[in-house]
Amino acid sequence: MSAIPIDGKAVAQSSQAGLRPQIESLYNSGIKPQLAVILVGNNPASRFYIRAKQRACQQLGILTRDILLPTETSQSELLEHIIALNNDQHVHAILLQLPLPPHISASVVLEKIDPHKDVDGFHPLNMGHLARGEDGLQPCTPLGILRLLEAYQINTQGAHVVIVGRSTIVGRPLALLLLRRDHQANATVTVCHSMTPDIGAITRTADILIVAIGKREYIKAPMVSKNQVVIDVGINRVSDPDAPRGYRLCGDVAYEEVRAVASHITPVPGGVGPMTIAMLLHNTVKAVKLQLA
Ligand code: GUN
Repeated sequence: MSAIPIDGKAVAQSSQAGLRPQIESLYNSGIKPQLAVILVGNNPASRFYIRAKQRACQQLGILTRDILLPTETSQSELLEHIIALNNDQHVHAILLQLPLPPHISASVVLEKIDPHKDVDGFHPLNMGHLARGEDGLQPCTPLGILRLLEAYQINTQGAHVVIVGRSTIVGRPLALLLLRRDHQANATVTVCHSMTPDIGAITRTADILIVAIGKREYIKAPMVSKNQVVIDVGINRVSDPDAPRGYRLCGDVAYEEVRAVASHITPVPGGVGPMTIAMLLHNTVKAVKLQLA
């Protein structure tokens, strides 16, 4: 038997369609939601994400403003852009694309984004609300993963969820979301990372295995068990002269061998990626409402 593929594209589309009435009603009140995206430097993966975000926003009538800055931009110049966007009433949402060049401290600049416009949920105030189990703007990829599980009626309540990776973007906030007292959460969570010995012994005990470690095809068949749900957050470029762009994308999970064991699996591309964008749009609408409240 082969695992059921989880179609992130389809779930993202229906989630985005669900935002339409809310965006129409904002337009009817004279409010045009606007997302500002800041990119420092020329990271090809970041440029790709930004184009995908622009397309999704256009489809829904969310206005976008792109601030493309050269790699040499200083931290204080970047802060000036952030402060201008914080003070601009037409801008409801600010996304600072990561990673940043090494001379800029992500934690310093992310702290300067107005927490009500912080659609990534990376501001310490929003992270603090999340750690306390309170509502706020929450990181898009973890939210998207929970939506995928919900769409496929995969129960997290009482389930053992093993997360591989402890990043601020995915692993940590995902663990906190899954620990909430909520019927879409209430999981028992284990987080593995680079210093965890014998990760396979732990991943095999999961009901749901979520992998965000940034190493291509790290999870092989012997590291998973029958009936596991496997969520692959990785997006790795592998050079492939036969592919139209000269590379193809692959995840942190060896898809072909793992799908022979698991019960459900997300493909790469077309799994978690589209959900991150759908949740960015969701958070943009939420940010507008926070600013109106
Ligand atoms: N880089 C990779 N993923 C993300 C994300 O979710 N948000 C931002 N801002 N940058 C990223």
